[in-house]
Amino acid sequence: MRFFVDTAEIDAIAELNDLGMVDGVTTNPSLIMKSGRDILEVTKEICDLVDGPVSAEVVAMEADAMIAEGRKLAEIAENIAVKVPLTWDGLKACKVLSGEGHMVNVTLCFSANQALLAAKAGATFISPFIGRLDDINIDGMELIADIRTIYDNYGFDTQILAASIRTVNHVTEAARIGADVMTAPPAVIKAMANHPLTDKGLDAFMKDWAKTGQKIL
Ligand code: G3P
Repeated sequence: MRFFVDTAEIDAIAELNDLGMVDGVTTNPSLIMKSGRDILEVTKEICDLVDGPVSAEVVAMEADAMIAEGRKLAEIAENIAVKVPLTWDGLKACKVLSGEGHMVNVTLCFSANQALLAAKAGATFISPFIGRLDDINIDGMELIADIRTIYDNYGFDTQILAASIRTVNHVTEAARIGADVMTAPPAVIKAMANHPLTDKGLDAFMKDWAKTGQKIL
């Protein structure tokens, strides 16, 4: 499973990237707002830092304007994936931009039928939002499983990018189902290293080690 990091914070991306944990980055208008940075500048910095796809989202609502914005975002770097919303206009923009050879990430996907349309429109990535479905008591993981089944049934090569990941269990479940990629905030990726038995075991080792009076260095 490839890991994308869901943030526009350069320092957080750099820390994870140095560890080899970053296969790409996803941003959206809310994350750009949180960063307090100019979208073109910060996206360029991210693209310079990371080799994999960097999603940058259009903000227009109509297809022609989305296409124009997408082309401008794609000029930032070769690894830009233009992010468009899963609306009828977004699908039109996806078709045109993917036809021009740009990577396209279709975002705000909440149903299997939406995912089917995105694949037919040539999406490189489909982003089902797990956490936001869980928020309204719908099992987000079922959606990931349905999309996996449908894409495999028909051989669509659109990659499933599990998004709106809020917990480490979301990562495990999405990986078990076979999502191609997951995108999560840095804190969730770092929390994957945690286990109470690791902490407990380490504590016992350190106490016993202190009793030996030895040093390694
Ligand atoms: O990848 C999409 C993500 O940014 C949305 O996450 O937690 O705002 O639902 P969240």
